[in-house]
Formats: sequence, structure tokens, C-alpha cells
Amino acid sequence: MRPFWGKANDEMFRGFVKPMFDIFTGMMKKGVNVVTYDAPLAMYFYGSPFTDPADPIVAATTAMYAGESLGLGTCMLGAVHPMIQYGGSGRKFREKHGIKYASREGVIVIFGYPSVEYRKGIRRTFASTTFMN
Ligand SMILES: Cc1cc2nc3c(=O)[nH]c(=O)nc-3n(C[C@H](O)[C@H](O)[C@H](O)COP(=O)(O)O)c2cc1C
Repeated sequence: MRPFWGKANDEMFRGFVKPMFDIFTGMMKKGVNVVTYDAPLAMYFYGSPFTDPADPIVAATTAMYAGESLGLGTCMLGAVHPMIQYGGSGRKFREKHGIKYASREGVIVIFGYPSVEYRKGIRRTFASTTFMN
């Protein structure tokens, strides 16, 4: 597929998407859910033909802050959205769950009761930063 979808997509598929699906299905066979981690609540944020592409992402992030401020644990999941969007099974899933629109952007946030308590946040770094004088 590389000549058709380019180097970056090819690396993404080989190095991330395919191994991820192998892990999903492998763990599923063992009865372990690493897709939604058996979370008691999953909220799906998606767009409509009228929204800005950023809208579902902003709403999902805000929902995470709201959940965390209530003492819940939250986790953003991007892997499910493409499965909801494409193909016949995606359409069936949308119909079954009342998902009104197919949407380019979308993300799931799962909520649960945290089993660990963090004393401090993790220091994150960006892949690249540019400063202007
Ligand atoms: C946009 C986005 C999509 C993500 N999708 C998934 C996913 O589908 N499955 C998963 O296990 N983790 C996913 N993650 C990673 C987790 O949400 C989380 O960021 C990661 O486990 C690190 O957790 P921490 O920030 O608390 O250390 C995603 C993160 C982001 C930002």
C-alpha cells in the first residue's frame, strides 16, 4: 500500500495500527478487554456536518477535566472511532447506538473509579517546540 498512501501512513500502519489490532484481538481471545478496559462509562464525542473538526476534541477534553474534578479516572481512546466510522459494521453500530452522523473527527472518553492515586503529575515533553524572538 505504501506507493498509494505514502511513507508516514505506511509506518503508522505497520508500527502502530496493525500491532494495536493484534493486541486487541489477542487479548480479546484471553477474555481481557484492552479496547475499553471494561470501564463502567464510555462517552463518544463526534461531530456533525455543522461542527468545527476541533469541537468533539474540545468537548472530550472538557469532559475529562469534569470527570477528574469529581474524583473519577478518565482515559481518552482514539482507536475505536475509525471502527465506528467505516464499513457496514460501523454503520450498523452507529444505527444501533443512535449515533446520528458519520464524522471525520471523534474520540471516546472512558470513566471509572481509579485504582491508583497519583501524588504528582508526569512531566510531559513535546516532540518539537519552536520559539520566536
Ligand atoms: C487522542 C488520544 C487517543 C488515545 N487513544 C487510546 C486508545 O485508543 N487506547 C489506549 O489504550 N490509549 C489511548 N490513548 C492513551 C491514553 O489516553 C493515555 O493518554 C495514556 O494511557 C497515558 O496516560 P497518562 O497520560 O495518564 O500517563 C490515547 C491518548 C490520546 C491523547
